[in-house]
Amino acid sequence: MATSDVDDSYDPFEEFNRSAGMGVVENPYPMFALVRPQHPMKREGEDEAVIAPGGSDIESMPIDRSVGVFTAYSYDAVQQVLKDGETFSSKGYADIMGKVLGHSILEMDEPEHHLYRGLVQQAFSRKAMETWERELVRDVVDEHIDAFVDRPAKRADLVRELTLPFPVVVIARLLGLPRADLPMFHRRAVEVISAGFELERAESASQALFDYFSAIIAERRVHPSDDVISVLAQAELEGTRLTDEEICSFLRLLLPAGAETTYRSSSNLLFGLLTNPEQLDALRADRTLMPQAIEEGLRWEPPLIAIMRTAARDTEVEGVFVPAGSFVAVNIGSANHDEKVWEKPEEFDIFRPPRQHLAFAWGPHMCLGLHLARMETRVALTQVLDRLPGLRPDPEAEPAAISGAIFRAPAGLPVVWD
Ligand code: HEM
Repeated sequence: MATSDVDDSYDPFEEFNRSAGMGVVENPYPMFALVRPQHPMKREGEDEAVIAPGGSDIESMPIDRSVGVFTAYSYDAVQQVLKDGETFSSKGYADIMGKVLGHSILEMDEPEHHLYRGLVQQAFSRKAMETWERELVRDVVDEHIDAFVDRPAKRADLVRELTLPFPVVVIARLLGLPRADLPMFHRRAVEVISAGFELERAESASQALFDYFSAIIAERRVHPSDDVISVLAQAELEGTRLTDEEICSFLRLLLPAGAETTYRSSSNLLFGLLTNPEQLDALRADRTLMPQAIEEGLRWEPPLIAIMRTAARDTEVEGVFVPAGSFVAVNIGSANHDEKVWEKPEEFDIFRPPRQHLAFAWGPHMCLGLHLARMETRVALTQVLDRLPGLRPDPEAEPAAISGAIFRAPAGLPVVWD
C-alpha cells in the first residue's frame, strides 16, 4: 500500500482526542473521591453515566444494563477484579475493539490467553529491551530533540515535538518497518482505534493494515531478521505457531496499547515535574530519583483511567453482589488515588513511599509492554534534562492542563530553556 492512499485532510489524532473526551473532562478525580469511600464497588443506576473504554457513556456498547453495571472505584476492588481472570472475563472487548483489531490477547481468557501471551512475549525479552535502549530508543528520542534544540528562541512544544511522535517511531522501528511507511502506518493505526465513531473508516484501515503486514510477515518468514515481526513469525510454544491473522491482530493492538499510552504517560510526568519545579530540580540533580519519579507520574495521572471486564459468574466484590453477565468498569484512575493507600493522593510527589500503583493493570492481562514503557520514559526524560538545561514552562504561552475522560494528557507542553 502506498502512502498516497491516505486522505491528507483528515487528522486522526484530532478525531481521536475529540472522541476520547480530550478537553471535555478536565479533572475527574474530585468526583471519584466523592464516590469511592461510600461505594468502593458501585452498582450504577439505569441512567448513570459510566467511565468506561469507548466513551463516558456505555449506551453505544452491546451491554444489557438490566443485568448489572458496576464501577470498581477502590484500590482493593480494582485489584480483586483484575487479578481474577476466571471470574472477570476480558471477552467483552471482542464486541468493541475486536471488530477492528481482530482476535487479540486483550480479549482472550485463560487458557487461550496464557498460550498466546507466552508466544508474543518472546519478542519482548530482557535482552531485546537492552538492545533496543542502546541501539534504537535513544537515537529516536535524540532525533526528535535535534529538530528543535538549536532553535534561537529556545522554545518548543514538548507534546507535539517529542512525546507524541517518538513512541510511534519506536514501535515502527521495533517492527522493522521501512521509514517511508511510517506516516501511513501511523494514520492507519490511529484510524483503527477511532472505531467508536468512524467504524467504516476503521474497518477499511484494519483491512489495509492486514494487507500491508501480510506481505511483510511472508517475507520475514523466509528471511528472518531480529525485529519483532520476525520473532513473532518464528515464535513457537507447545507446538503452536502464530498464524498471519494472529500476528496482525497483535500488531494492530501495539500502536494503541504501546504508543497512545506512552505518549500520554510521558507527557503527564513532564507536566507533573514542570508544575512542581522543586521536584524537577531534585531530579535534575539526582538521577537515581528517576524510577520513583516515573512510577509517581503513572500513579498520579495514568494515561488510561478505565478498562473493562464482564462477570463470568455470580460473585461478590467489597460486599457487593455482582451477578453473572454484569459489565464492570474498572476505574484504575480512582484506584490510584485511593486515600486508604496514599496520603494526599491528589498531589504529585516523587518522594512518597513506594506502593504498587495499578496504571499497568494487574493479574493475567497486566501490561505486556511495561518494561518497554518505563525504559522509553526514562530515556526521553534523561535526554530532555541533559539537553534542555533550565527547562521550564513557557511564561508567554497558555498554561498547560491535563484533560480527557478515559485517555488523559495535556494537549501541549510549551517550554523554554537556557
Ligand atoms: C505507560 C505506558 C503504558 C500503560 C499505562 C499501559 C497500560 C496497560 C493496561 C492498563 C493494560 C491492561 C488492559 C486490560 O486488560 O484491559 C495493558 C495491556 C497491554 N499493554 Fe500496555 N500500557 C503501556 C505501554 C505499553 C507498551 C509500550 C506496549 C508495547 C509493547 C504495551 C502493550 C500492551 C499489550 C500487548 C497489552 C495486552 C496484554 C494482555 O492482554 O495480556 N503497553 N497496558
